[in-house]
Amino acid sequence: MLKAGADIKPARGKLGVLLPGLGAVSTTFVAGVLAVRRGLGRPIGSLTQMGTIRLGKRTDNRTPRIADFVPLATLSDLEFAAWDPFPDDAYAAARKAAVLEAGQLETIRAELEQIRPMPAVFEREFVRRLDGPHVKQGKSKRDLAEQLVGDIELFRTERKVDRLVMVWCGSTEVYRTPEAVHADLRSFEAGLDRSDPAIAPSQIYAYAALQAGCPFANGAPNLTVDVPALRELAHERGVPVAGKDFKTGQTLLKTVLAPAFKSRLIGVNGWFSTNILGNRDGEVLDDPESFRSKEVSKLGVLEHIFQPHLYPELYGDCYHKVRINYYPPRGDAKEAWDNIDLFGWLGYPMQLKVNFLCRDSILAAPIVLDLALLLDLAQRAGMAGVQEWLSFYFKSPMTAPGLYPEHDLFIQLMKLKNTLRYLRGEELITHLGLEYYD
Ligand SMILES: NC(=O)c1ccc[n+]([C@@H]2O[C@H](COP(=O)([O-])OP(=O)(O)OC[C@H]3O[C@@H](n4cnc5c(N)ncnc54)[C@H](O)[C@@H]3O)[C@@H](O)[C@H]2O)c1
Repeated sequence: MLKAGADIKPARGKLGVLLPGLGAVSTTFVAGVLAVRRGLGRPIGSLTQMGTIRLGKRTDNRTPRIADFVPLATLSDLEFAAWDPFPDDAYAAARKAAVLEAGQLETIRAELEQIRPMPAVFEREFVRRLDGPHVKQGKSKRDLAEQLVGDIELFRTERKVDRLVMVWCGSTEVYRTPEAVHADLRSFEAGLDRSDPAIAPSQIYAYAALQAGCPFANGAPNLTVDVPALRELAHERGVPVAGKDFKTGQTLLKTVLAPAFKSRLIGVNGWFSTNILGNRDGEVLDDPESFRSKEVSKLGVLEHIFQPHLYPELYGDCYHKVRINYYPPRGDAKEAWDNIDLFGWLGYPMQLKVNFLCRDSILAAPIVLDLALLLDLAQRAGMAGVQEWLSFYFKSPMTAPGLYPEHDLFIQLMKLKNTLRYLRGEELITHLGLEYYD
């Protein structure tokens, strides 16, 4: 186990952020970083940029900014690279995604235009609604992985980047469960050689990243790095990984509301969640197989928070339904509705309706930033494999095999901050509080 107060290497030099997928989320992230660097906006929603951390007792008045407490890369240290099956540069892609206003994009146009995606490793079998022309050709999946490693190394030398992280911002791939080829590294590598159809493009990126010693986060619900073979590689290479599926709108609220009901032992017998969205992500999720990946990721949350096996009377009969409807007029401005059927004292019924008019990529961009900076920190602190303390950012957090995930947002935040305290050798905060009354 990692020692408390471990030596953390300094965040010296540039940090390269590699983005498979140059769509709505990644262009909003990159454009946002460029705008903040120039003082044209604030990094709202980012814990690493705006968050503080309490140290010691409540009476100690020690609450540094997280960025001052742990050594993080700064925004001016970041360099970006991306892959996409469409050749649009980051400016053109951001205009198409239409998340940020055209006038705002104009101010950073020249920098955005310099970010041109490299040809993608792409298979329509895994994302059926897209068909882009900007795709790598290879003799085998091994060859494609080697081409990606080549891209990474070229970027490293050309841009004089000292460290790297990769954050998957590509489309949601179709639902798959682990197969024999994912069982260990040897089988996986043999699978790359024979181009095993069960190896997804996102797994080829993850493999290339880990081979290049680059931490990997998965912003989509596809399995990607959440298979034994790639966990093994992460350990072997001493590289941290995290996933899956950015926790942004509806699920963020679900992991706040459900723990509230549970903590007051309010019963829930139905939770209907529906969404309309009209961006490219919505179009991809219109394919039932890609939707299935998202559905599984969104459904798991309540099961783990409510623990119906421990509270059968309250949650044993909870009907949970999740819908995503592709509705082009809305673009990235998603609308989510939840109808929650509750019951209280003596079983009397109640209802709660939630209508969240959110902007998907505006909520996701700060998560990409935090994950890039915190995974880089983890690597410099010598943390390898699954980083459960980053569950805070995910709908479907990766954990050690056999361990159920923590979904409650505030448990996740406590876990994250306690990990930072631990890394710096500070006392962990239990919120016991008896010491104030001695
Ligand atoms: N709030 C959010 O926006 C949110 C929340 C959770 C998860 N996500 C996930 O994040 C991902 C990105 O979302 P988005 O809104 O930016 O979608 P998007 O459709 O705008 O962008 C995805 C990009 O990935 C590209 N792509 C597809 N397959 C690729 C491959 N094999 N290699 C490289 N690029 C590939 C697509 O061409 C597209 O440009 C999606 O998987 C989405 O489900 C988003």
